[in-house]
Amino acid sequence: MSDSKAKLTIDGKELDYSILNGSVGPRVIDIRKLYATTGLFTYDPGFTSTASCDSALTYIDGDAGVLLHRGYPISQLAEQSTFMEVAYLLLRGELPTREEFTKFENTITRHTMVHEQLTAFLRGFRRDAHPMSVMCGVVGALSAFYHDSTDITDPYQRMVASHRLVAKMPTLAAMAYKYSLGQPFVYPRNDLSYTANFLRMCFSVPAEDYVVDPVLERAMDKIFILHADHEQNASTSTVRLAGSSGANPFACIAAGIACLWGPAHGGANEAALNMPPERIPAYIARAKNKDDPFRLMGFGHRVYKNYDPRAKVMQATAKEVLEVMGVDDPIFDVARELEQIALHDDYFVEKKLYPNVDFYSGIILSAMGFPTDMFTVLFALARTVGWVAQWNEMISDPEQKIGRPRQLYTGPTQRDYVPIGQR
Ligand code: CMC
Repeated sequence: MSDSKAKLTIDGKELDYSILNGSVGPRVIDIRKLYATTGLFTYDPGFTSTASCDSALTYIDGDAGVLLHRGYPISQLAEQSTFMEVAYLLLRGELPTREEFTKFENTITRHTMVHEQLTAFLRGFRRDAHPMSVMCGVVGALSAFYHDSTDITDPYQRMVASHRLVAKMPTLAAMAYKYSLGQPFVYPRNDLSYTANFLRMCFSVPAEDYVVDPVLERAMDKIFILHADHEQNASTSTVRLAGSSGANPFACIAAGIACLWGPAHGGANEAALNMPPERIPAYIARAKNKDDPFRLMGFGHRVYKNYDPRAKVMQATAKEVLEVMGVDDPIFDVARELEQIALHDDYFVEKKLYPNVDFYSGIILSAMGFPTDMFTVLFALARTVGWVAQWNEMISDPEQKIGRPRQLYTGPTQRDYVPIGQR
């Protein structure tokens, strides 16, 4: 894995560090022995130059706008595959044969119900609770209901927990939604696909069944594929960090959900749609003002310095869904106009700010009938597959250690305690 060295000179002493090669992408300097040999740490807030692990799941080339899962381009997966197949690919490493796929789909389907007592737990939330707060709570609570899959040293239990998480997320997400509406929970139906079942659990009521439109089912499935994994982003790193201490998978995924909620991450899709169209010019002006911390939601990415490949698929899907729903959403036209302004504006060009996945997803979800506060929940549902796959990869990695960064201490040096009466 290593064929060249990086030389570092510290206080006149020259030290060699191996440079490791991945299969593709930037090489990394192996500094694991840096502290032991020099007494120095590296400083990298936000981990902009730090590889925290090795991983065979997802590859991103941010400059070229490339996203591959296990080598397969995201556009091919979004157009030709299904979310369940991508889940299998991420979890198991290869695309399944028909037989393997049928078995996997059956397994996931047979885990879609949640323990009935969970409904009582969920009803303890205030009706006006944000569904992401409900998700943080109920997903963490799964560890109190499924003790037989929390021993992380047992590969079989890890697999069962992974299947449970992927299978139960749609049920819990739909329950959070139904609860916010004051409608009864809808139980899963195993004769439907993963995605059709989810849409039905969200939109059917006991008085009237919901017939899932195949175009909407496909659009939802594509949204799930586009959000399934994204290498070491903030929430995935959170899941890995939580898992590195040996915490159970349900608790780790709850930690990932908490991180995803922030507007700089998954919460951006909700924030993007909360920008009223008439204020777009003012928003662009604010985004460009150096003295204003305002950010244009749905634009920019830590890794992509080119068009987010997921946003391209999303734009086409948004058009299809609006047509099927017969919705003439002015937001879509505004979004396209905004995209054109930004793509030609000096500020956005210079800073390489392109629309990201969250720019169009909100338009699709709102046309389907989801309120904005459900958008991040849907992101969490899909990303659970990636989180679980990354968590499994980490636990099985013989080089895995508890995640424990160091710091550059800038506080007071040692001093003596002064009793309160003498201060
Ligand atoms: N609007 C205006 N200016 C921006 C924006 C934006 N959306 N994003 C970055 N910039 C500017 C920023 O002010 C900075 O300028 P300067 O160099 O003069 O200080 C420069 O571009 C680089 O930004 P940064 O903050 O150093 O970049 P980062 O990698 O730390 O942040 C980001 C990435 C996604 C947090 C940021 O672009 C952002 O806040 N975007 C809006 C929120 C959003 O849409 N998030 C969804 C990300 S995609 C879905 C997901 O994976 O979560």
